[in-house]
Amino acid sequence: MSCEPLDERVQTLKGTVTAAFERVYGGQPQLIVVSPGRVNVIGEHTDYNDGFVLPAAIDRHVVIGLRPRVDGRVRVHAADFDDTATFALDSLTRTEQQSWANYIKGVAWALQQEGYALQGFDAALASDVPVASGLSSSAALEVGFAFAFQTLSGFELDGVKRALLCQKAENQFVGMNCGIMDQYIVSLGKAGHVLLIDCRSLGYELAPLPAGVSLVICNTRKKRGLLDSEYNTRRAECERGAATLGVKALRDVTPAQLEARKGELDPVTYRRCRHVVTEDARTLEAVAAMRAGDLQRLGELMNASHVSLRDDYQVSCFELDVMVEAAWQQPGVYGARMTGGGFGGCAVALVADEHAAAYAAQVAPIYRRETGIEGEIYICRADDGVHAF
Ligand code: GLA
Repeated sequence: MSCEPLDERVQTLKGTVTAAFERVYGGQPQLIVVSPGRVNVIGEHTDYNDGFVLPAAIDRHVVIGLRPRVDGRVRVHAADFDDTATFALDSLTRTEQQSWANYIKGVAWALQQEGYALQGFDAALASDVPVASGLSSSAALEVGFAFAFQTLSGFELDGVKRALLCQKAENQFVGMNCGIMDQYIVSLGKAGHVLLIDCRSLGYELAPLPAGVSLVICNTRKKRGLLDSEYNTRRAECERGAATLGVKALRDVTPAQLEARKGELDPVTYRRCRHVVTEDARTLEAVAAMRAGDLQRLGELMNASHVSLRDDYQVSCFELDVMVEAAWQQPGVYGARMTGGGFGGCAVALVADEHAAAYAAQVAPIYRRETGIEGEIYICRADDGVHAF
C-alpha cells in the first residue's frame, strides 16, 4: 500500500529522472513533463461504441526529463529498466525489441503525418504507473511525449487533438485497436474530478469526486494475456450488433429497443450488445448519482457493471472476480468492479476514507489465499492530466 503525498511521489520520480539524465547525457534536462495513469470508474467497453465513460487521471505518473537536440534524432533512456532507445525522426520503424519505444515513435509518426515539424531531443524517464496492469502506462507515455514534442517544437495542440493523435499512434503504429478513453483522460484529466466523456462528440463534463471517498485500485498482477485478440473480437461483435440493428453505433440503442429486437441477434451478439447499452445507461446514472452525493447508488451501479462485464461481455477472469468479490465483503465499500480492458489488470473500489487503510489490509491476504498471487493495493486520488512540472 502506498499513499505518500502527491508531490513527494512526483519529486522522487523527478530525482530519478534528473540523476539518470545527468549520468547518460551529462548536464540537466530543460523540461520536465508529468503524465498520469488513469482509472475508469464506470463505462467499460463503451468508448469504441460512441458511448460514455467516466475515468479519472490518477496520482501515478510517467515523469520525463528532456533537452532539445538539433540533428533530428531522439534518444530516450528508461531509467526503470536501464535501456536507451535511439531513432531518427525521418525514419520511424516499429521494432520488436525495445517495444516500449514504439509508443514514442508512434507519436512522432502521427504528429508528422499531421504536418507538424518536430524537434529532436534527449530524454530520460521514470514511472510509477504499473506496466501492463490496465492503468494506461502506454497512454501516459504517448501523451507525455506528445506534450514534450509540442512544447519543444513550439506548436499548439489542444487536449482533444493530442488525444486523437496519440490514439492514432496506438492504433496504426503500435497496432492496438483501442478506443479514445485512455489518451483522452491522460490528456485532459482534472485533479479531484472524474470526466464524463462523450466518445461521439468528444466533449466532456467534469464531476467532482465526492468528499470522504477514496479510489482504491486493486492490482491482480495477472498479466492481461488475452486482451489484444479478445478486444478485437468484442469490437467486431459490437459492430455486427450495430449493423443488424441498423444504427451507426450501439450508442444509438436504448436497453428497451434492444429487448424489443432481441430475436434478430444471435445469443452471443445479443449479450455483448446488452452489456454496452446497459453500461451506457449506468454511466449516465452514475454521474448523476455522483453529483447528488448518492454514493450508495453509485456503488450499486459499479457492482452491476462488474456483473455485466463478467457475464455478458465476458472480459473478466478468475483473479479479477476474486478481487472484486473480496472488495464487496469489506466495510465502508460502496462498490467495486474490474476496470480497463479486462482479462487481468486492476479492479477499482470506491471506499469511505476512514476504511481505506483497513480495506487494503483485509483484501490483500484474501486475494493471496485464493489465487496464490501477491496483489497490490493503491489508494489513489484523481489528478491533473499531462503538464510541465
Ligand atoms: C482499453 C482501451 C480503451 C477502452 C477500455 C475498455 O483500456 O484502451 O480504449 O476500450 O479498454 O473500456
